[in-house]
Amino acid sequence: MAFSRFGQFLTQGSGIVQLMDDLGSAGDAGGDICMLGGGNPGAIGAMQDYFRNAMRTLLDDPARFDAVVGNYDSPHGDARFREALAALLRRTCGWDIGARNVAVTNGSQSTFFVLFNLFSGAYESGPERQILLPLTPEYIGYADAGLGREIFTANRPSIEPVGEDLFKYRVDLNALSVDDRIGAMCVSRPTNPTGNVLTDDEVDALRDTCRSQGIPLILDCAYGTPFPNIIFTDAKPVYDEDLVLCMSLSKLGLPGVRTGIVVAAEPIIRAIGAANAILSLAPGSFGPALMLDAIETGDIIALSNDVVRPFYHGKAFDTVAIMRQAFEGLPYRIHQPEGAIFLWVWFEGLPISSVELYRRLKARGVYVIAGEHFFPGLEADWPHKHECIRVSYAGDAGRVRQGVDIIGEEVRRAFA
Ligand SMILES: Cc1ncc(COP(=O)(O)O)c(C=O)c1O
Repeated sequence: MAFSRFGQFLTQGSGIVQLMDDLGSAGDAGGDICMLGGGNPGAIGAMQDYFRNAMRTLLDDPARFDAVVGNYDSPHGDARFREALAALLRRTCGWDIGARNVAVTNGSQSTFFVLFNLFSGAYESGPERQILLPLTPEYIGYADAGLGREIFTANRPSIEPVGEDLFKYRVDLNALSVDDRIGAMCVSRPTNPTGNVLTDDEVDALRDTCRSQGIPLILDCAYGTPFPNIIFTDAKPVYDEDLVLCMSLSKLGLPGVRTGIVVAAEPIIRAIGAANAILSLAPGSFGPALMLDAIETGDIIALSNDVVRPFYHGKAFDTVAIMRQAFEGLPYRIHQPEGAIFLWVWFEGLPISSVELYRRLKARGVYVIAGEHFFPGLEADWPHKHECIRVSYAGDAGRVRQGVDIIGEEVRRAFA
């Protein structure tokens, strides 16, 4: 069967398709797999209890339950949810917003598809525009949002060694060049894959650059403030009409409900609503309905700060300790853990590519993600891209230890 160019693009293979396939097949295989590859959040008992109670409350209100599953929401999402979220953000962050500044999507992955196409490609006048990623490595899921068009341009970070075996990427502000070929900038904060949290100063510098060019700065807050707040440094939540904030319920523990949230200026919210209508009529109602009480009461903030963040903070530093044992004597550095649910490990001078390391690990039942997928838009080849892997520490601690030990063995074999 012949496919159109669109079909050929979809089926040619890409990092995010491989990642989600691995996640699915590891789930199906159960048993002996160490899944350190995917972006599934950890199973946090207190969060699971909260979600189950929220579900019972919904079921115990038959009129509400019937409305939730029996009607399409508006293309911008349920009005009560949007109003409640705007009120929460006004209360907790002091932002001057209303429901008009909030849209719901079917997960933030779909938000990015729309936003990147809203701000790249041909405009009414001027040259074609691209999305600038001011710091790579950056989230693998962005890479194919142009459906085959090269919509990204990206910068390398500067690398700052920290102590014996850590390092930190910083935005290379001197290399930042923004002109009329850039339609928007985007950063994830915390960054997937590295767990880097851009400092407030870095964010302010990017905001200034975007404002002076009249383009939006898209901040991907999938792990960020104010929820799920998987951030181990001080990071100020920021919003104004020059920013587009993308949030999600996934990393609180609800990836299955596929709920993304956009907070932005009204024209952008209208465009998101139009895209929802065209692509899927309406966003799913279930996630917003399940979390409405948590948002109205503010529980979502308390749960993020008191349950979700400490859970990942503990796991991050436990996993660093495990890595220090497993990688002893190897030329490794770990990106300073500042947030999100991953560790990014750099094996300087790795004699095989990170894709080959991924393959060898997969053959032993350990799933990680090869580093080179995380540099969308970075044209020049850079050995560093092939020397890093992303390791998720969200899963079962025993599996993480087993997987990290096997990574140590395979890397040692590669260097031998
Ligand atoms: C940085 C980042 N942004 C966006 C997403 C997409 O999240 P979702 O579509 O589940 O809301 C993810 C998922 O892993 C992510 O890591």
